[in-house]
Amino acid sequence: MKAPPRHTKFDSTVEFMKKPYHFISTVCKEHQSQAVTVRLALRKTYVITGPNAVRFFYSGENFKRKNAMPHPLRATLLGKGGVQGLDGAEHLKRKDLFMSFTKPQEILRLSRIVDAQFATGLAKWSTQDNVPLYPELVCLLAVSACSWLGIHLQTDEKEIRAEQLRSMYQDASVIGLRHFKSRQSRRETERWIGNLIHDIRRGKLNVSDTSPIHRIAFFRDEDGELLSEKIASVEALNLLRPIVAVSTFMIFAMHALSYYPEMAKDVALDLKFRDHFIQEVRRYYPFFPAVAAITKCNLDWMGVHIPENSRVLLDIYGINHHPELWDNPNEFNPNRFNGKTWENLPDFIPQGGGNWRSGHRCPGEFITIQLMSVALDYFTRRMDFKLNLENPNLAFPLMPPLPISEVVLRDVKPRSPSSIQIYPV
Ligand code: HEM
Repeated sequence: MKAPPRHTKFDSTVEFMKKPYHFISTVCKEHQSQAVTVRLALRKTYVITGPNAVRFFYSGENFKRKNAMPHPLRATLLGKGGVQGLDGAEHLKRKDLFMSFTKPQEILRLSRIVDAQFATGLAKWSTQDNVPLYPELVCLLAVSACSWLGIHLQTDEKEIRAEQLRSMYQDASVIGLRHFKSRQSRRETERWIGNLIHDIRRGKLNVSDTSPIHRIAFFRDEDGELLSEKIASVEALNLLRPIVAVSTFMIFAMHALSYYPEMAKDVALDLKFRDHFIQEVRRYYPFFPAVAAITKCNLDWMGVHIPENSRVLLDIYGINHHPELWDNPNEFNPNRFNGKTWENLPDFIPQGGGNWRSGHRCPGEFITIQLMSVALDYFTRRMDFKLNLENPNLAFPLMPPLPISEVVLRDVKPRSPSSIQIYPV
């Protein structure tokens, strides 16, 4: 078996950072191979894409995750010692904890909190001339996520925590000062949650023993030991941070509605169409470009050889847009999900693929979908507004790339049920 073609550049980090979402598919197309060897941050890396890549990447015993993600992302987005970097029995046990937070009754509890926060937000927005939507969603979701976990936020703390949780995912991959802000946000939020865990364990802070924060505080790992305060805080942040990040998909949903206002009525009234719209937002819009793992053994795939202990990057964005896997992949078309169940589409991987329980697939997919549905209910059925989006182009190469101009709502009013309309840009 031969080695995959080698990308000519000595190191492709700059090329990757310039086009994070298209880098893998571009080099694979250039070399006419589903696997290519590149160097990223001076480290030899195998990038893979196309049909069969998902099955290969997520097939049981081929890959491990320990230290797979680059250090700058572990110092910001992910934290150290959390479920993402675990393997084998230790991962299974920790993952079970996360899966228990995504049972239907827990998702319902969270979505009721989010719904109530939207109702409060709507009452406030209808008194304002301009409503910058993204910061409002970030704050609303941060407050909701904390309440759901069992964490009480003081009034003057809400915006600070919301901003820290936002910075952890949005500033992580930006080179320069913003990256350091993201690191600082991680340090401060880990200290904050670590102190809460400390107090909960010593009975100084009373929280319901069924709340996620209590269950994380008293979770015992494979060896029967409690998690360190630091790792427990990393896991609590593995719930808080991504729930806040769902604000990005909510903005993308609003962006799609601004381009296709005629879809708003069906999103409002036809729950099946709303589901397809949500899945198409998750497929079409860019969030995570790729996910990393390390080979556990020598592997042969699609005619090439990838040696043991190699870093492999799976092309998440490229696979969600691959022309052999999707018809007209660059068209926004919710109807492509007609007659399909998203869970059964192996190459639909906006939040990773494979098995939720035994693999590393995102346990928050059902939460994400439910919260997007609550947001769309407000955007299309429960409020009227004018949308102002001066430059709707997405701010590539940021990860995730929100629209260049801020999404601003004007003339917000609670909906009178008769008129269902979204106002175009
Ligand atoms: C904005 C929406 C979200 C996106 C785009 C997203 C994306 C992802 C991706 C790409 C992965 C990696 C999959 C892999 O390694 O194979 C992941 C893992 C994970 N996500 Fe999400 N996610 C989102 C929302 C959520 C939510 C709402 C939660 C929790 C409530 C969550 C918790 C996690 C956790 C704990 C993992 C690690 C799972 C493991 O390693 O076993 N995510 N997510």
